[in-house]
Amino acid sequence: MISDLKGRSLVEPEDFSLDEMESLFSLSENIEKDEKYLRESCRGKLIAALFFEPSTRTRLSFEAAMLRLGGSCLGFADPGSSSASKGESLADTIRMASSYADTIVMRNPKEGAALLASRYSSVPVINAGDGGHHHPTQTLTDLLTIRRLYGKIEDLTIGFCGDLKFGRTVHSLAKALSRYKNIRMIFISPSELVLPDYIKSNLKKQNVNYCENTNLEKSMPELDILYMTRVQKERFFNEDDYIRLKDTYVLNADKIAAGREKLIVLHPLPRVNEISVEIDNDPRAAYFKQAKYGMYVRMALLASILGVV
Ligand code: NCD
Repeated sequence: MISDLKGRSLVEPEDFSLDEMESLFSLSENIEKDEKYLRESCRGKLIAALFFEPSTRTRLSFEAAMLRLGGSCLGFADPGSSSASKGESLADTIRMASSYADTIVMRNPKEGAALLASRYSSVPVINAGDGGHHHPTQTLTDLLTIRRLYGKIEDLTIGFCGDLKFGRTVHSLAKALSRYKNIRMIFISPSELVLPDYIKSNLKKQNVNYCENTNLEKSMPELDILYMTRVQKERFFNEDDYIRLKDTYVLNADKIAAGREKLIVLHPLPRVNEISVEIDNDPRAAYFKQAKYGMYVRMALLASILGVV
């Protein structure tokens, strides 16, 4: 199955089949078990990491993944230092980067930028976030975390809480989870930040059992997974709206007390205020583990796309 991923792009969360995702997850677990496994397998290969938007985890975990595989990275973390600041089109930047590197990892503030890049690139393109649209490698991270901590990705109730309108990680994870068996989704957000219609219509088409509400406390006892998100300041047109909405949900010790013992709390990070630091030592807090799994799954992804496994 893994060999089928050689040379493929990852633009949207459903670009890979469930079997292909499963192979990536078991490869990630093998890498986690044996730090030497696949070491040096990408020697001589290069990725271009083109980050037109800020990033800590995604960029660093991709770079760490490639370096651990023995490969190398080039690119930029600040578009101001690239020719984009001189007015170069994305298409031209991608044509150039794809003639230098074996795979492109790109984050861009425009929805659809990764799809466009994949059309101009002569090498695979991995979408590391396109505006408020999708973030499929965060989804691989989230699914691997659920699989590692629950031993399965089925028969689970997941609550998504926060900015469901602009939160691309929510869009990608909800779409991806709709392909698994008996997943119930509860979308908790202020009315101004509800899940976009195009994601909801996809869930309806897949007959997903989902509901929307505004009350985290009410949903808490039902959840196996709570997926908290940051209000996406950079996507707001009006700062007053951001200030009014940013602290709508703050998970603290009082609120988590109503949660199940087996609950896991995920967050793609960065967190701002939405998870109080007192939760970090609660055994149900899994967000730092989740960030670490992100490196293993990106190692598995790069090794597969570059065709070394
Ligand atoms: C997320 C993103 O960039 O969409 N971060 C990440 O990649 N882990 C979430 C966020 O920025 O809120």
